Amino acid sequence: MTTPDSFTTIDVVMTETRRFEPPPGFTAAANVRDPNIYERAASDVQAFWEGAAERLSWFRHWDQVLDWDPVGVHARWFVGGKLNASYNCVDRHLSTWRKNKAAIIWEGEPTDESRVLTYADLYREVNQVAAMLRSQGLQKGDRVAIYMPMVPELAIALLACARIGAPHSVVFAGFSAESLRDRIIDCGAKMLLTADGGWRAGKIIDLKSIANAAVAQTPSIERVVTLQRLGPDNHKVEMTEGRDVWWHDALAATTAKTVDPEVMDSEDPLYILYTSGTTGKPKGQVHTTGGYLTGVSLTHDWIFDLKDGDVYWCTADIGWVTGHSYIVYGPLANGATVVMYEGGPAFPDKDRFWAIVEKYKVSILYTAPTSIRTFMKWGTEYPNAHDMSSLRLLGTVGEPINPEAWIWYNEVIGKGNSPIVDTWWQTETGNIMISPLPGLVATKPGSATKPFPGIMADVVDGAGNSVPANTGGYLVIKHPWPAMSRTIWGDHQRYVNTYWAKFPGTYLTGDGARRDEDGYFWLLGRVDDVLNVSGHRIGTMEVESALVSNPSVAEAAVIGVPDEVTGQAIVAFVTLRGGETPSEQKAQELREHVAKAIGGLARPKKIYFTAELPKTRSAKIMRRLLRDVAEGRVIGDTTTLADPTVLDSIKQQYDDDN
Ligand code: WTA
Repeated sequence: MTTPDSFTTIDVVMTETRRFEPPPGFTAAANVRDPNIYERAASDVQAFWEGAAERLSWFRHWDQVLDWDPVGVHARWFVGGKLNASYNCVDRHLSTWRKNKAAIIWEGEPTDESRVLTYADLYREVNQVAAMLRSQGLQKGDRVAIYMPMVPELAIALLACARIGAPHSVVFAGFSAESLRDRIIDCGAKMLLTADGGWRAGKIIDLKSIANAAVAQTPSIERVVTLQRLGPDNHKVEMTEGRDVWWHDALAATTAKTVDPEVMDSEDPLYILYTSGTTGKPKGQVHTTGGYLTGVSLTHDWIFDLKDGDVYWCTADIGWVTGHSYIVYGPLANGATVVMYEGGPAFPDKDRFWAIVEKYKVSILYTAPTSIRTFMKWGTEYPNAHDMSSLRLLGTVGEPINPEAWIWYNEVIGKGNSPIVDTWWQTETGNIMISPLPGLVATKPGSATKPFPGIMADVVDGAGNSVPANTGGYLVIKHPWPAMSRTIWGDHQRYVNTYWAKFPGTYLTGDGARRDEDGYFWLLGRVDDVLNVSGHRIGTMEVESALVSNPSVAEAAVIGVPDEVTGQAIVAFVTLRGGETPSEQKAQELREHVAKAIGGLARPKKIYFTAELPKTRSAKIMRRLLRDVAEGRVIGDTTTLADPTVLDSIKQQYDDDN
């Protein structure tokens, strides 16, 4: 584990001093203009969030704002309140002029495919799918796994599950059969919603075969409903009699066309979403209904400065928390027009994103630093070929953005007059936690700036004391907030141990940070062994287990190394079993093995074979030392190593290669 002390080393290299004030015209019209909002929220956190909850439509008002037990770690927000998320995202807009406003503008990867769903269309489709899910046997409280491409039916599926009170567990469609299987088993999903496939970079992704392989080992799944996205002319799939049904057949067979939204308790789970940890299996974060929806709705409105005329595009996949909170629940609760894109950024050419911005006059764009760095590499001719004057606000999420990419985003995409909101948050936090309010807060490239009003963030040392300005430490949150995950599905103790045990009553984010003299937060990456590849968290443990599951591997250690495009890339150090010989071919086989076990995202960029791994006498692999080797640093303290010579041969190999 990296100690917070080492963050101060990082501070020295970060000497970014540029500062960008919000454009005056932007501030004049901004949704939030009162600088006292921070102080007001901090002076009464509960009153602040209570005010925010009034944005939603409740079937029953709450009796108490917060019931907080810091010992058992149970937070209940808006206690006694009743509501339904799909009612808030869809039904309530029908009694307003937004009834015929575009809710979802969908762009398929094939350039001739697009669809626009108004809020009235969305209402009709969500109801029909909700009725279909019920007729297929789903009841309130049942878990539903969703493994689908980025098509409107994916968003509709989430809302339909919410409508009938069945928590969804979306698994990103880039994950492998094994990953899907494990997530289904962990939450005991009764139904799986999938598709015959999807388009990505001009190729078919064969979701149904992967889903079939997963479901072969998941006894809890009783029904698989498969959407025909590609159609039999493009792609034939195998259906299992009795278990599988086509989405369109199931819809046609459903007589009910509407379903009353279930009256859900504020604290009823809305969904489960898995995220990587340092050890063991992925953690199923449980998000609730009232607090979560309050948090995503307010932050979406304030941080993206949402106006009714905006066309808002978040380029994330709904399979990640960013898509849950800022494609589906936040924007739709706010009655926004949301662009949803199915495919890759280079299809048919490297200007696809900018063609979409121009085509739909996108005014708010929310994307990831890794994408921005890719666009930088491709060159300015792609964005410059399009009229992007509609853009007025830009956002980033997923990892720290390097100042160079920030400046490029600002100049080439924003033409110097669109504020950038660098938003820090996590699957666990549910909503954005640190970000500028774009009309109020001057930005500094590389800093996520200030905690959102009502979010009590701090940077502390190992004893839990706040550290002085410009000193590295643990980023923590000192007061519960409505959208925070309430537990890890099936393992509350793990939730307590992971997030709340180090500093009782305080949430440990797992990230390091420093605060500068203006109170701005600079994120310094993870303090544990979690990797961040293209803005997605991958546990070292998961990749190592995948490697070791290959019969030729005896032991493995993986680390993240800085990568120009993906932020971090995975490098693996592997000890083969006796009788196996290292070769380029073996390395390739192992890389593919990991991709198959977890998903392409986790495929190691490089594999080094080594006779031994650096270990302590208690046999703990010292990844810190491997990181020193990889980053060309002086190798740290090796006195606890069982065999200090091990590192020399690893270093030799690594240096030869780089
Ligand atoms: C990292 C994604 C710096 C961080 C919403 C966090 C960031 C992890 C930022 C959560 C940012 C996310 N600046 N680091 N703006 N946004 N991170 O759960 O390490 O997929 O803990 O949630 O991503 O990743 P997750």
